[in-house]
Amino acid sequence: MSDRVKGNSPKLESFWMPFTANRQFKASPRMLVAASGMYYTSDDGRQVMDGTAGLWCVNAGHGRRSIAEAVERQLMTLDFAPTFQMGHPTAFDFAERLAAVAPGPAGAKLDRVFFTGSGSESVDTALKIALAYQRAIGQGTRTRLIGRERGYHGVGFGGISVGGILNNRRVYPTLNGTDHLRHTHDLARNAFVKGQPEHGAELADDLERLVALHGAETIAACIVEPVAGSTGVLIPPKGYLERLRDICTRYGILLIFDEVISGFGRLGAPFATDYFGVVPDLVTTAKGLTNGIIPMGAVFASRKVHDGLMHGPEEVIELFHGYTYSGHPVSSAAGIAALSIYEEEGLLTRASDLGDDWATSVHELQGRKNVIDIRTIGLIAGIELASRPGAPGSRAYDVFVDCFQRGLLIRTTGDIIALSPPLIIDREQIASATAILAEAINRAA
Ligand SMILES: Cc1ncc(COP(=O)(O)O)c(C=O)c1O
Repeated sequence: MSDRVKGNSPKLESFWMPFTANRQFKASPRMLVAASGMYYTSDDGRQVMDGTAGLWCVNAGHGRRSIAEAVERQLMTLDFAPTFQMGHPTAFDFAERLAAVAPGPAGAKLDRVFFTGSGSESVDTALKIALAYQRAIGQGTRTRLIGRERGYHGVGFGGISVGGILNNRRVYPTLNGTDHLRHTHDLARNAFVKGQPEHGAELADDLERLVALHGAETIAACIVEPVAGSTGVLIPPKGYLERLRDICTRYGILLIFDEVISGFGRLGAPFATDYFGVVPDLVTTAKGLTNGIIPMGAVFASRKVHDGLMHGPEEVIELFHGYTYSGHPVSSAAGIAALSIYEEEGLLTRASDLGDDWATSVHELQGRKNVIDIRTIGLIAGIELASRPGAPGSRAYDVFVDCFQRGLLIRTTGDIIALSPPLIIDREQIASATAILAEAINRAA
C-alpha cells in the first residue's frame, strides 16, 4: 500500500466519510485510484470489477472520453452561469434532449424538467412541487406526504421524512404529517423469484387505509421507489404499482416515482415508468443522468403538474424553489454527452437483452450456505444472507471485503448484497463476477 493511503495515516483523518464506519475504514482503508470501462484500479495495482456502477450511477462505464471532452469544452466556453432569471443554452438543450426520452408513453411523457444537484435534492424538489401544485389547483389542505417503509429517498429532511429506513431517521426530527405504506418484502411467499414476485399487489391498498385514516383531502402525494434499491433490492409484486396508481388517481393524490437508481436503463427500459407501464405524475432522477461523473439531478413533471403551476401574472415566479447549480452548464454538458452514449450504444435497453443471462447466473447462487433469497430484475440483483446470531450485517460485510480483495466491488445493506453493474457489462464478466461472489459467500459461512 502506498504511503499516501496507509491505515491510520493522519492524511486520512480530515475527510469525514459519508455512510461509512470511519474508524474501521481508516484503520484498514480500501482505496480506488483509477477506473476504465468495467474496472477500478486499487491503490495496490489490482483490477477490481465494478459490480455496482459506482453507487448505481456509472451506467456507461468509466473513463468515457466523449463525456470528458464535453466537460472540458463547456468549462472553457461557459464555466458557470446563473439560471435564476437568466439562461444559458446548454441547460435548455439538455432539457430538450431529456424531454424526448422522458418517462411515460409517447404523447403523455413527463417532459417538463427541473434540474437539481443530486438525488436528495430531486426528492425534496418533487415533494415541494407536489405541495405547490395542490395549493395552486385549490387543494391547499393537501399537505400530507406518504412514503413507504424501507424506502430510501436520500438524506434531506423531506427525503428522510418519507423514507422508511430507521437508521436514517432515528436521531433526526421529521416533517409533520407524513405517513408510510407497509413495505413489500415477503420472504415467506416470494423467495427466489426472477423478476416481479406473484404475491403482494394487495399491499398497495395500504394507501386506501391511510386515506380512511387521514382523509384524502389532507394527502398531497405518495412517493415510492418502483424498485427499492438501498434497502436491499425489493421488486414490486405484480400489479402493485398499477393498484397504487389507481388509488392515487381516485383520490387526487400525486404519485411520485423515485427513479434515482432505476432511471437511465437499469431495468432494460429508459425508466422504470416505461418498464412497468405505470405512469406517475413526477419522476425523480440523478446518478445515471450524467453517468455519475458530475453531480446533477432532474425531476420530470407531467404537463398537468407543470401547467397547473403556470398561472397568475406572468411577472410572478411560479415556484419559489431552485438551486445555485440547477442546470449547471458543466453538468448539463456531461449529461448531454452521457445521453448520447446511452443512445448510440443502446444502453437504455441493453439490460433487457442481458437480463435473462444475468438472472440465470445470479440465481445459480441459490443453495449456497446462508443464501435465503435472490431477487433479480434488469441488471439488478439482491442476494439476502442469513444473519449471524447477534451480529447482523457482519456476514455480508465479510463477503464485501473478500470480494474487494479478489477483484469485485459489491454493495451491502445489512446482510443483503446488492449488485448493479454498469450496463456495458458482458456475459463473461457476469460469469466472473458471480464466481467471485460464490467463493466469498462460501468463505463467509
Ligand atoms: C431511490 C433514491 N433516491 C434518492 C437517493 C439520493 O441520491 P443522492 O445520494 O444523489 O442524494 C438515492 C441514492 O442512492 C436513491 O437510491
